[in-house]
Amino acid sequence: MSNSGSRASLTNDFERFKRALPRDFPAHVRDTYRINLAARYLGEPIPHPIGKGSGQLSLNSGQLETDAEAGLAFAVLKTVIAQDSAGDQSMAAWAIHETKMKVERRGGGWTVTWKGRGWDRSFDDYLVLARAAWDFTRAGLLLTVPSVKYHLPRLNEPFRDDEYAFTTHALSHACGQTPLLLEKDFSPTLAGDPLADEKQQILRWLREVPAKIRAHANVRLAMKLMNARFDDDFQLEMMDASSSADALVVFNRLFDADLGVAYGGPELSDRNLRVLDRPSGRQTVGPSLSGTGNIHSGRMVVEYALRGCSSVQLHTFFQLPLEEYPATEGSRTQRALHALMFDPRDGLIAVMLEREAAGALERRGGELHFLDLLPGAKR
Ligand SMILES: Cc1cc2nc3c(=O)[nH]c(=O)nc-3n(C[C@H](O)[C@H](O)[C@H](O)COP(=O)(O)O)c2cc1C
Repeated sequence: MSNSGSRASLTNDFERFKRALPRDFPAHVRDTYRINLAARYLGEPIPHPIGKGSGQLSLNSGQLETDAEAGLAFAVLKTVIAQDSAGDQSMAAWAIHETKMKVERRGGGWTVTWKGRGWDRSFDDYLVLARAAWDFTRAGLLLTVPSVKYHLPRLNEPFRDDEYAFTTHALSHACGQTPLLLEKDFSPTLAGDPLADEKQQILRWLREVPAKIRAHANVRLAMKLMNARFDDDFQLEMMDASSSADALVVFNRLFDADLGVAYGGPELSDRNLRVLDRPSGRQTVGPSLSGTGNIHSGRMVVEYALRGCSSVQLHTFFQLPLEEYPATEGSRTQRALHALMFDPRDGLIAVMLEREAAGALERRGGELHFLDLLPGAKR
């Protein structure tokens, strides 16, 4: 089909899929548009780049089932606070309960204001969730990844290895998967804590945490980096210090010190994309990148991909009021995927076709490839 023929099909698909998005939409996109959406997260092949970031939308197996039915590529489970065998949690201040979550406009986009932090039920309950999640993964329905906040010491203190040992063993046992895929959360609320006032302290965590975790199980590790309250150069220093991780999630929300809350919106994607644009000493064979922050269109997915992200993780866009999605039926996950993929102007397919027409993306074997958007992709 010609580029203009594809655009006509796109308008058609956008309209008809408002009522129901086919679960295997990547196969449909490949057949109809000759566009291969294959992507990668933490070294795993996924059918397209869009996953769900850790948070309130991956707290129970009902949510995972809805995501699997919608054809989401992956879901990161809510962050659990690590504990040792006696049940002690050095980061207990992060395991607090907070019920009010407010979706509001900020800087011309959307943000979710919410003061809560990590998983606030028992660690055993989290293991039940991790096992249920692993069932979805083993059945090939949805790639799922647990997320943990482990002890982070002050510069002159040692790491509490017993927390690393107990939590990592328990999760690796619950998931039964080798290697265990895991995200380590360095959250924005941590950025606002006096613990994160010192650069050297943060850099030490990033350098040492991967070995601390891997000492206890065969783990493939993503580190979700915070937006620290320092300048853009320091974000790059953080990326460099994290070179022994397998993947980096770049970058979690900004911290509003006055309100004491984390936030997103355009300010977040502006900062993230600006930092990822900067030249760095990053090895070409270093941790892979997964983008997060204010992704609400396929066009924004492409912005992150052009800066090296082979997948993206969204939270806010899966939480909008229903009337904000163009689709009229289906779960929020389906409606969000419908807009991100098929929007005729700003959807992922439209933007890839637009780049083809502009000579910025070429077909290989007759197909456009999502992963060819990444810098240094093999042509
Ligand atoms: C209500 C809420 C809770 C979140 N909880 C977590 C969490 O427990 N662990 C984590 O790593 N990220 C957490 N996040 C961050 C999201 O996963 C995501 O990376 C971030 O919000 C940026 O993406 P977005 O702009 O699409 O929301 C949370 C975000 C929100 C809005």
